[in-house]
This record gives sequence, C-alpha cells and structure tokens, in this order.
Amino acid sequence: MPQTLQITAAHPDPALLSLPWDIPLEDWPNEVLAALPRGISRHVVRFVKLSGQVLAVKEIGETVAFNEYELLRQLSKTDVPSVEPVGVITGRKDKNGERLEAVLITKHLQFSLPYRSLYSQTLQPDTESRLIDALAVLMVRLHLIGFYWGDVSLSNTLFRRDAETFAAWLVDAETGQLLPRLSDGQRNYDIDLARTNIIGELMDLQAGEMIDEDVDVIAIGDALKQRYNELWSALHDKEEFDADEPWLVAQHIEYLNSLGFDVDELEMTTDIDGTTVMIQPKIVDAGHHARRLMHLTGLDVQENQARRLLNDLEHYRAITDRQKDEIEFVAHDWLAQVFEPTVQAVPRELRKKLEPAQLFHEILDHRWFLSEQQRRDVPMSEVVDSYIHTVLRNRPDEMSILGLAPEDADLQE
Ligand SMILES: Nc1ncnc2c1ncn2[C@@H]1O[C@H](COP(=O)(O)OP(=O)(O)OP(=O)(O)O)[C@@H](O)[C@H]1O
Ligand SMILES: [Mg+2]
Repeated sequence: MPQTLQITAAHPDPALLSLPWDIPLEDWPNEVLAALPRGISRHVVRFVKLSGQVLAVKEIGETVAFNEYELLRQLSKTDVPSVEPVGVITGRKDKNGERLEAVLITKHLQFSLPYRSLYSQTLQPDTESRLIDALAVLMVRLHLIGFYWGDVSLSNTLFRRDAETFAAWLVDAETGQLLPRLSDGQRNYDIDLARTNIIGELMDLQAGEMIDEDVDVIAIGDALKQRYNELWSALHDKEEFDADEPWLVAQHIEYLNSLGFDVDELEMTTDIDGTTVMIQPKIVDAGHHARRLMHLTGLDVQENQARRLLNDLEHYRAITDRQKDEIEFVAHDWLAQVFEPTVQAVPRELRKKLEPAQLFHEILDHRWFLSEQQRRDVPMSEVVDSYIHTVLRNRPDEMSILGLAPEDADLQE
C-alpha cells in the first residue's frame, strides 16, 4: 500500500525520502543507522546518516511532534544551546497499510555526550558537580527567555566539553512551553523537578555500579538548586553602593561578565539624599566571552572555551609587546599565527576526536605542563608534537563513537 508522506521542514532535503519510512523505527536496518551513544528515552530514537550528516529520528505522536518541532525552532532562533530541528514526517504506513507513528527529526549534536556515556569513560572525580554547574547555567538561560522545560533531567540534556568544564544543551523539549516570562513559582517548579529527576538518575547509576555508592546523590541534587539560585540572584538582585564609590558599579558589571553574562540594561537609582546608589540588571544575556571572541576572530565556540582562547590572545599580546595596538588587529594575527597553525598541525584523522577549540584548550594545558616540567618556554610546535603522541592518540573519538565498539554504543537499554 503506497504511503502519502508529509514532510514539514524549513529546508526539506529530498534525500529524506530515501529512508525506510514504511518500517517501524525500531526495525530499521543497520545500513542506514549510525552507531552513536544516546541516552535513555521512552520513545524509539535512532541516528541515521544522510547527505553527509547525522540526524536523530524520534518516533512520537503527531501533535507532540509538531509541538516539539515548533519549540525547537523558536529556541534555535535564540542563542540558548539546544538541538536543531530538521522536520516532522507524518502519513507513514507500513507494507500492510497499518498506520505508523510520526517522527521528529533533529540534527545530531556533534561532540555531544549523553551523561551515561560520560560515566562509561574514566571520569575525573568532580564530574558530577561540573555536569550540575552546566545544567544550572542552561536552566538559567532558558528561564531568562521564558522557557519552562517541564521535564529537566540528565537524559534530556546533552553535554559537550567546554574547556575544563562542560556545556549543557537541551535535547528534549517535548514538555516545554515558551511564555512571555516565568513566575518565580514556575521557575521553582522546574528546578524542583530537575532536582528529583537527577537524584533518581544518579541513584540508577549507583545501582548499576557506574558511580560509587558513597557519592551523596541527594547533595548533588541540592547543589543544582543552589547553583541555579546563586546565579539567578547574581543576575537579578539589587546591589547597593556608596555614591562616592562609583567604580563599584563597573566592578559589579565585570563580576557578572566573569560569570559569563552581559548586562544589556541596568537600572540605577539613588536614595533621597543621593548617598546610596542602587543598581539592578534588567536585561542580561549569556555568552559574554563567546560573543567577544566571535567579534574579534569570527570563531564560534562555547563560553569557557572562549574564555580560555581570549586569555591566550592576551598572553600573545603581552609576549609580542603589542599592548598599545588595537585588539582587533592583534586578534587577527593571533588567529593566523597561533590558533589556526596549532589546530592544523594536528593530523586530520585525529582532529575529529575533539572540537577545534577544545583541542586548542588541551594543547594550552599541555604547554603549561611541559613548561613546568622542563622549566623553559616550550615552543608551540614541540608542544603540539608531544600532545599528539602522549595525549591525543589515547583519547576516545568523541566526534563519532567515543571509542566504544558500535555494539556498546547503544546505551538505550
Ligand atoms: N539531536 C540529537 N543529538 C544527539 N543526541 C540526541 C538527539 N536527539 C536525541 N538524542 C539522544 O536520544 C535520547 C532520547 O531523546 P529524547 O529525550 O528526545 O527522547 P524521549 O523519548 O522524548 O525522552 P523521554 O523519555 O524523556 O520522553 C537523548 O537522551 C539523546 O541521548
Ligand atoms: Mg527524553
């Protein structure tokens, strides 16, 4: 029985029609699938290779599919990290004419790590807290734009390395709502649910002996709430200063920048006799360092990677004695003489192990390590050589399958 498929997409790729839509997603043949790790989910999710990229396909009810597609589209117009929607396919039928579920298609987020695969690698001891910090930042960013998530959990989040920390991306928007603004009650509800879900997920990992039984999972859940509240308060609370210490205002803005936020609008009031100044951020925007690096170099990277790269740019400016030059010019030279040659010195087949900015970050760490060890300024070419041979070759391949055998990569069960 022929099926009449409807593809709803902003830029429909005709190659989509070549996929076996008349077969339930669960039974799709291996030839079309990409073996990549994925988190736990109620719905069937599969990754497919198509037109040189990897797509995530989720079988899901039609109304929910359209709703999630629309939300992801709205989110992708903001700069809040979330997976990018490709489209919705409806009208599927199998060979006997039986109706099949609709699917939502998103772009696979390269270099992303579901939390369960992070735990299958050798982890640094403070991984939980770094994941929690990343999730707190994501929630603050979502709440700032009025997005109520409704089902925050580690499995509805993807993590990418971001310098020495992680950055969190929203992957499952099924229960989300975009509102003009969120009430404190809505924000608290979202956070409480996140806390409960995370404690449950970490308990599961403990039961599966993926994390130590001594780890206090309740404290980790509480830490999310605390991190979130600290950040939200820093970005919204009124601060008071003595009017004769005006530099404290600039200092406070720098502090918010150091947390990764720009203040786009600030309300300033004074008390009646003018001795006290009160300031309160009105509009804040995440991505302070990422935006600055983008402006200076055109590099589009995550916040903490950008922070690291900007530090290296400052270091370059100092050692080349160019403090008096316009930073824009210095940045141009740093890109051409430092960043690009360093990344390109890594053989192409090894470059897919990490994002370029993350590679650069690790090479900087390695430079520090070698210089400490050898008590001299080790030139970048030597650093890169040593990094490739002693570190990178042993790293799992995070662009494709994290070094897991394809059969292990299916973390669904
Ligand atoms: N675009 C994507 N890029 C990378 N991984 C993805 C993508 N889409 C889905 N995944 C993986 O598939 C998993 C399941 O996806 P998702 O959470 O959307 O399914 P779900 O069935 O709606 O989940 P739930 O059980 O929470 O309702 C995610 O945890 C993630 O690991
Ligand atoms: Mg999910």
